[in-house]
Order: sequence, then structure tokens, then C-alpha cells
Amino acid sequence: MKQIIGEKMGSIIKIAGPLVITNNMRGSKMYDVVRVGKEGLIGEIIQLKNDNAVIQVYEDTSGIKPGEKVENTNLPLSVELGPGLIANIYDGIQRPLNLIAAKSGSFISRGINISPIDKKKKWKFYSMPNIKKNTIVKEGNILGFVEETALVKHYILVPYGYNGRIKMIKEQGNFSVLDVICEIEQEGKIKEITMLQKRMVRVAGKYELRFAPNVPLVTGQRVIDMFFPVAKGGAAAIPGPFGSGKTVVSHQLAKFADADIIIYVGCGERGNEMTEILTEFPELKDQKSGKPLMDRTILIANTSNMPVAAREASIYTGITIAEYFRDMGYDVVLMADSTSRWAEAMREISARLEEMPGEEGYPAYLPKRLAEFYERAGRVKTLSENEGSITIVGAVSPPGGDISEPVSQGSLRVVKTFWALDAQLAGSRHFPAINWLTSYSLYKSSLNEWYNKNLGEEFIKGRDEALAVLQKEAELKDIIRLVGADALPEHERVILEIGRMLRENFLRQSAFDDIDAYTSLNKQKGMLDIILYFKKKAEESLEQGVEANIILNMKVRGHISRIKEFPEEKFDNEKNIIIKEINEEFVIVHNK
Ligand SMILES: Nc1ncnc2c1ncn2[C@@H]1O[C@H](COP(=O)(O)OP(=O)(O)OP(=O)(O)O)[C@@H](O)[C@H]1O
Ligand SMILES: [Mg+2]
Repeated sequence: MKQIIGEKMGSIIKIAGPLVITNNMRGSKMYDVVRVGKEGLIGEIIQLKNDNAVIQVYEDTSGIKPGEKVENTNLPLSVELGPGLIANIYDGIQRPLNLIAAKSGSFISRGINISPIDKKKKWKFYSMPNIKKNTIVKEGNILGFVEETALVKHYILVPYGYNGRIKMIKEQGNFSVLDVICEIEQEGKIKEITMLQKRMVRVAGKYELRFAPNVPLVTGQRVIDMFFPVAKGGAAAIPGPFGSGKTVVSHQLAKFADADIIIYVGCGERGNEMTEILTEFPELKDQKSGKPLMDRTILIANTSNMPVAAREASIYTGITIAEYFRDMGYDVVLMADSTSRWAEAMREISARLEEMPGEEGYPAYLPKRLAEFYERAGRVKTLSENEGSITIVGAVSPPGGDISEPVSQGSLRVVKTFWALDAQLAGSRHFPAINWLTSYSLYKSSLNEWYNKNLGEEFIKGRDEALAVLQKEAELKDIIRLVGADALPEHERVILEIGRMLRENFLRQSAFDDIDAYTSLNKQKGMLDIILYFKKKAEESLEQGVEANIILNMKVRGHISRIKEFPEEKFDNEKNIIIKEINEEFVIVHNK
């Protein structure tokens, strides 16, 4: 962020933690960015009363004294967008953490002014073939592109507010983000366009129209893709108690979801968890290309020991960058871990402002903020008439795992996929600990057509049958607890076994096993098919008088228990072998 000397100069009259109250700020606007005190700390006006402004400061305020000056930049909180974004690790207000560390020696020092994007680096720019002198363009149109990384072609868009006739366009050449690559004539004036643009973070981006959520975000995670899918452009919440696997699920999605761009907002989690991300992500490989995953990833890191206001901003920084890539026609996934820490930042600031608290001390506007955030998800027709999407996945950390609290409830009102992590499942090492009885996806009906087309007409019936078995299993377990297993009829004993197969051989999926970490849709469906085929044969046999005991002791169960270990390329073959084995053994069972 460039330091601009504003006309409006106030002085600090009071400091309260991350907030600073200043006089003499008349004429300032809400959400103006200011520089506070001798060190020029970055802050944002969040309340105006007469001449006084309340400023939330994004850096540690200790040592600042009343009387120090505050300058208004007269600019809203914005992010810088352009080639050079990818692979960066930013803090909540888009300061590049690695550069800060290099410059200041420590992790982060105050008042430091480092550009989020390298201004000197030259990029090879190519204009689009349809963009010529005299072409009429409007905001959001694609002018050209830069091969930013091996995985991302970075399209250069006409910035918001720019509409007109092209007077000059560079066809190709090496340019920095500050070089003018295009000029347009707008209302008689010439406007210069560079590869760098700014967008306000608290204002949602623009698009032509929204599409129905009828394409799934395929994640390679079986319980998600088969039972509780999220649509591309949809929103999902992962609430879960301490240690139940929120972060691991978020990482799995970052690695494997079929998206072009990953924005990972590490929000207020413990410092060491963030360190894990910062060390782990750069090591990760992109599943398809084998190139570093960072070649299509941006990390935004705000740990619990960084200033609380920057954490509040980090979500907006993340979603604004996500919108920028969506506008290029990309599928973007934004992960926020954890939205609870974001809400706690809001709570802390609200308390300092002495606002009337709502539920559990959170500000009354918490539900509205959550809704506004998740509503920035969507699959859209972009201003350049492409299709792009942002899928948001928010982890929630309800204290004690009790989701009746405001952040969980506020999220549940707006997201349509809910992956409920369960302490008991995690305790028994059933991972991912997504509870199949309490989780849901309201996208299912709008995704049916896609699944029908891609996995065959019989898929949905099979999926629902499997879920019904799992529900039945849970009921039967309750009964067993009351009256013991001996009282169960034959058929229900077999259902218990099928339920166990579904849990153990299908739902359990290790994030740390090379083969198991990701499962293609073909294999996912094939695995379900095998278990459901066994169920069908078992039920037929029962009807013909075969005893449950005999079915429960069949040898082929051992083979079925290894289906997840079969590598993708061998799976179809193995599936045929197992189906054959099932057929053969049921013939033997019948003849017993
Ligand atoms: N899919 C998985 N496969 C294997 N192990 C898992 C999986 N998910 C979680 N675990 C195990 O559970 C541990 C805790 O997971 P994780 O750190 O994601 O929990 P969390 O909900 O983010 O916790 P916190 O509340 O502390 O942030 C992991 O370190 C790992 O050992
Ligand atoms: Mg975590």
C-alpha cells in the first residue's frame, strides 16, 4: 500500500487495544484507510461520531501515545490485483509475509510498507486476438494474458469503472505491472490501463448473472462426493470440535478439489497450525500436473498472535482475490479456517466499541456478516461472458462442539452443505469424521441431473440405498443397546454387516495414504457398487433360506475390505474380479 499524505490530519485521543480514537477527522468516510501515529500503522475507520473517528488498527498498537497524528489516505481498504499474486503468502491486509520477514528480520514489524505485488518484475504480456484498436470494451472484459505460473494463465481484465473505445493496446511485450498496456477513450478522456488494479475488499465483485448450482465440486473425498456434495459456486460449513479434523478436511480440499485456483485463509488458528500450512503447502504437488500446488494457490495467514483487526479483514482480502480470479473464468475454492476466529475478532472489536452485544457477546450484525461473506460464493457468467465460480468452505470451531452457538447457527442459515465433524468418530479414529447421520447437502436435487449423466441413471438409487442402510444401522445399534444382538432378525443382522462395510470400507478414508487420499468418481461409485451388489446377493440368499451367520462369514468380505487399496488404474479390473468372487461364493453358500 502506498503511503499517501492525506489532507485530513487528526490526533489520537485514546487507545483501546486494537482501536484508536482520533479527533479532528471531519470529512472522513467510513472504511477510509488511515496511517496511525509516528510509525504510520495501517488502520481503517470503523465509526464516525462528529469530529471523532474510531479506527481499527491492523498492527500492534502498543507504544502509541495520545497526541500522535493520524493521516487519512481517503482510500477504502483495497487489495492489489495483477500478475505476481499466485504463490504468495499474505497477512490479513495483503502484506507479503515472506518479504516482510526478509525486510524486517522478525516475522512482522510495524508500519512496514511493502507492496503486495512485485512492481519491478517484467511479465510477457499477450493481447487477446479480438482486442484491437477501436474495439469497444467494458469493465471485466479480457484484454490479454500473462503466463504467471506453469498452472495459471493470468488474464488481464479491464478494471471496474473503465468502459470505452481502445485507443492503444500493446500486442505483446515484456511489461511490469505499472507499465501502460492499453489506453481507452472514455467520455472524451484517455484512461490508461496497466496490469495492476485495485479493488475494495468490503464490496462484492460484479458479474452478469448467477447459474444454478448444478455442477458438483469433485473433491476425491468419498463421503463428500457421494453423500454430501457441494456444488461449484456453493458454500459448505465444517463445524467440528477441537481435533476432529477440520483442518485436515480443508487441506484435502485444497489439494484435490477440481478447482483452478485455491485461496486458503488461515484465520486466527494457533501459530503452529499456521506454520504447518506454511511449511506443508509449498511441498504439495498438484494432483494432475505434478507441479507445485503453490503454482495455483494463494495463502492468507493470520494466526492467533497477530492483531485481531487484521484477522477481521483477512476474510475480505481472501474473497476479493477469489472474485478477481473468478472473473477470469476460473473455478476458485476459498477455504477459511476458522470462521469462528474471524467472528471472535468481530466480537472483540465490537466489545471495544461498546456496541450492544447480541448472542454470546457477538455483535448483533454477526449473522449479516456471515451471510454477506457466503453470498460472495457462486457460479456466474462473468462480465467477460465466461463461466467462473467461487466455492466457499468455512471451518467452524464451536466451543465444546455444541453447534447451537451463534457462529454455527449463522453459518447454517446460509450454507447449503453441512459436514458435521463428530468427536466420537474422531475419537474412534474414523476419519474423515463427517457424521453421515447429521450432515446434509441441499444441493443434491440440483446436482441429480449431473450425477445421472456422469455416473449413470442407477447411481442416485444406489447412493440413497447406501445412506438408508447407514441410517438403519444406527437404529439397530440403539436396539442392540437395549435388548442385545440376539434378538435381531436375520435380515437385520445382515444389514448391520452391510452398514459396517459401508463405514469401514467406503466412508473411512485416510488423508495420509497415497492411494486412499484421493478417489476418482469412477472408483467411488465402483466401491459403492461392490458393497451394494453384496447386499443384493445377501438379501436374495436370505429369502431363499440361507442363514445370516453363513453370509456374515463369507470369505469374499476379506477382499471387499481391501477395495480402497486398489490403485485407480487397476480398480475396474479388481471390481470385476470381486463381483465374480461374490457370485461364485454365493453359489457355494446356496449349496451348503
Ligand atoms: N482424513 C483424515 N485421515 C487421517 N487422519 C485424520 C484425518 N482427519 C483428521 N485426522 C487426524 O486428526 C488430527 C486432528 O485433525 P485436525 O487438526 O484437522 O483437527 P481440527 O478440527 O482442525 O482441530 P483444531 O480444533 O485443533 O483446529 C490430525 O492431526 C490427524 O491425525
Ligand atoms: Mg484446525
